[in-house]
Amino acid sequence: MDMTYMDKCINETLRKYPPVSVFTRNCTQSYKIPNTDVIIDKHVQVLIPILEIQHDPEYYPEPDKFDPERFSPEDKAKRNHYTWLPFGEGLRSCIGMRFGLMQTKVALAVLIKHYRFSLNSKTQHLLILDPQSFILAPLGGVWLNTEKISDYNAAKEKVESQTSAKEPVAETHANDAMSAKGLGKPLSKNVQVEK
Ligand code: HEM
Repeated sequence: MDMTYMDKCINETLRKYPPVSVFTRNCTQSYKIPNTDVIIDKHVQVLIPILEIQHDPEYYPEPDKFDPERFSPEDKAKRNHYTWLPFGEGLRSCIGMRFGLMQTKVALAVLIKHYRFSLNSKTQHLLILDPQSFILAPLGGVWLNTEKISDYNAAKEKVESQTSAKEPVAETHANDAMSAKGLGKPLSKNVQVEK
């Protein structure tokens, strides 16, 4: 499924919030980390801190900022491949990666086609991670308001047909016409919804 911008948004979400925030590897032979005195002995278990790597400002400037353009082909080419690890890497990486990504895209495409979403006030703006959750999750969950787009478009069409029927109102600015009908939604917002 070729959805370039959605791809970038999902990749950036997985960068900021990798559900599996750490994975492990067993060292099979003694290894000296280049340019350091650190030696990892054979059989030592190593923790790979995905969350920390994906928030390292050396690779992701302003790491707390949500910026899907970090995943443009040009920006990706500038970074080490192993700085984005939400599905792990190597022979034991996630076998469900393609399925997981496809599922996420299908669900998102269907949901945003039919509903408008906005943040509910119950959602904390500075997310606090739940210390008791096995996978990375915000304390208290993410609460959203939903509005069916068909209802919204029906209201919009009704207003438009009413305003075009009366000549003097047709000359009124569209925003005023909308508020005069008591809907309180400026036309510019409607246009954005249709994108
Ligand atoms: C967004 C969704 C998912 C994420 C973020 C995710 C993440 C991960 C990570 C980080 C690992 C460890 C990789 C490593 O050690 O290098 C893993 C392993 C694994 N995942 Fe996923 N996963 C996802 C979805 C799925 C799905 C949908 C399935 C199955 C249908 C799946 C099946 C597996 C299996 C079987 C392993 C173990 C692979 C092995 O040890 O050889 N995952 N996953």
